[in-house]
Amino acid sequence: MERPGPGTGPLLILGIETSCDETAAAVVTDAGEIRSSVVSSQAHLHAPFGGVVPEVASRHHLELVLPVVREALDEAEATLDDVERVAVTQGPGLIGALLVGLSAAKALAWARSIPLVPVDHLQGHVASLYLAPDPLEPPFLCLLASGGHTLLLDVQEHGKFDVLGTTLDDAAGEAFDKGARLLGLGYPGGAEIDRLAREGDPEAFVFPVARVPGLDFSFSGVKTALLYEIRSLPDELEALRADLAASYQRAIVRALVQRTLEAAERTGAERIAVVGGVAANSELRAALPDAVAPPPELCTDNAAMIASAARYAEPVGRYLAVDAYAQSL
Ligand code: KG4
Ligand code: ZN
Repeated sequence: MERPGPGTGPLLILGIETSCDETAAAVVTDAGEIRSSVVSSQAHLHAPFGGVVPEVASRHHLELVLPVVREALDEAEATLDDVERVAVTQGPGLIGALLVGLSAAKALAWARSIPLVPVDHLQGHVASLYLAPDPLEPPFLCLLASGGHTLLLDVQEHGKFDVLGTTLDDAAGEAFDKGARLLGLGYPGGAEIDRLAREGDPEAFVFPVARVPGLDFSFSGVKTALLYEIRSLPDELEALRADLAASYQRAIVRALVQRTLEAAERTGAERIAVVGGVAANSELRAALPDAVAPPPELCTDNAAMIASAARYAEPVGRYLAVDAYAQSL
């Protein structure tokens, strides 16, 4: 690929994402083309603890953020001279982790006089659908299922959505992660359960998922049901692990699909999209064959989606005063 000289190529957006345990940077064009997307996962560092340790995450973001930004620029064959705006996740997420990315973005923007766009992580997940080569145009109904959130969103236009439903307790990804832990699988658990479930019988066990009013979700009960099932068969766990994983996954997917279809019926939405880490799940994707889902690597946390969201938001003035937020506003 021939490298466009400064000022001659398309406008480039540098995205930075450090809300949890992935240090990510990406270069995306204003038209939504991904020039590079680098994700450095710290999952192996957190695995021995069975979940993300916030302090460990912050420290590793600090070590990784600049090398990852450099790698993203190199892969895109770009320099900071080609960057028209810096996009960074402002929240929600782990506050110490977010602050590392935000501080790096502020420093780059300040040093190079580049406009800064703070991005909401959830808007980022939705904006993963707006990337080339097959961008989805609003309006659509969106299921956002990740480690921290399970939301049904009515997306009417770029950069805006109404929340139709949310989880009352655990997020779907959290249910996968906690279930994986009970099954003695590694962290993060969603992909592990997805893999093992392929070898198991999803009808072997019946794990009910609580039905709550409206369009909300609840996943704490299914995890407890799995715990009791495992306790009742300590000797056979090894032989039944795949069946348990398949049945557990079936219950979570069924709950997600049922509520999503109900929401589509209620709102009259013609198109359904699924985003977030759990949208990488093969059974969920198969159960909603007509739904639009980003490629799996854009479902889990990445910075291309953050850069994409910045295409529909304005840079902020006085950005040095911008603070991170842990919880959704
Ligand atoms: O979007 P994401 O990378 O981070 C958050 O914003 O939370 O989502 C991570 C979550 C984790 O809970 C992980 O177990 C889950 O997504 N996940 C999956 C799969 N891949 C990742 N869950 C089910 N099946 C998968 N294949
Ligand atoms: Zn996420």
